[in-house]
Amino acid sequence: MALPWRQTSRRGFVQPMQTLPAGPARAGNRIRKPGIALAAGDAHPRLAQELARLCRATVVPTSVTAFADGESRVRIEADVAEADLYIVQPTSTPANERLMTLALLADAARGAGAARITAVVPYFGYARQDVRKRPGEPRSARVAARLLESAGVDRIVVLELHSPALESAFDIPVVQLAADEPMLPVVRGWGAADLAVVSPDAGGLKRAQRYASALAAPLAVIAKTRPRPDVAVALQVLGDVRGRSCLIVDDMASTGGTIAGAAQALLGAGAKEVHALFIHSVMAPGALERIGAASVRRIVTTDSVPAAADPRVEVVPVAPLLARALAQLAGQPTEGTANVEGI
Ligand code: R5P
Repeated sequence: MALPWRQTSRRGFVQPMQTLPAGPARAGNRIRKPGIALAAGDAHPRLAQELARLCRATVVPTSVTAFADGESRVRIEADVAEADLYIVQPTSTPANERLMTLALLADAARGAGAARITAVVPYFGYARQDVRKRPGEPRSARVAARLLESAGVDRIVVLELHSPALESAFDIPVVQLAADEPMLPVVRGWGAADLAVVSPDAGGLKRAQRYASALAAPLAVIAKTRPRPDVAVALQVLGDVRGRSCLIVDDMASTGGTIAGAAQALLGAGAKEVHALFIHSVMAPGALERIGAASVRRIVTTDSVPAAADPRVEVVPVAPLLARALAQLAGQPTEGTANVEGI
């Protein structure tokens, strides 16, 4: 049965109201059950709800609201002293608010004496700004990591960081999960003949290589440049894609410019058709239209962030993968493994 998550005014929500009454954390509200205690931020209540169900977690009620001036205001509405607490909050749009809410929830849990705080952040924003590409730029991913660490997060579970090496931006343990397992059956189900896997830029080559190997398909890569932020230009297709069904594999789509540019370049290089797979559907307004206009035939993504329902997009749920990882981390018996060693 669905848990009674509900929206409050503005961007906040409170859950679940009838399980534990709102009010000061007190001994009567103590999260006593062994195992996973799960609290949700405001970014993806549906995913948190599904995770709680799959993990048979004790749900810790939280409230996330905002003051009139826009400051985030959070509260953990139960006594989490000594709890093994998992806070679910992808830092999706609006990234700054989601990140801050996560940090505040971690600090609240730390202050309340949680034994261990694990941030479950299927999509970790700021990951693309992992290095200082030009003088005067910050290492934003590192700043985001420091914020969470200083707020009291003990470890973080992420799905497909932009670059696996980003792990080194953290001092706390990072559990990286790959989405291959739920994604591959979807691609195989398309039955596309003469498949080639394409990385739309050099940075995504390792991920594309993984898919190419799993699908026993040749690999191609596109030389991409960014003349300015949020603008991607595909310069050249490296590899022979003539007559092939091309599967573009990327970590995320934001403006859709990378996928659209890659699709056009591939069709221009003689590809028969183009499909796109990206893990995080961070779609800015107009992204889907941009991708569609580039004649991308099929799109598959995950619900690591709340994905808008669209008949053109197949959305693969990630809750089962995350639930297995959480169970493993919490030392519970699981069916199958979730590759918590990293990717
Ligand atoms: C870039 O390095 C990433 O891997 C993605 O290709 C990129 O962030 C996608 O963004 P957009 O959809 O705005 O081109």
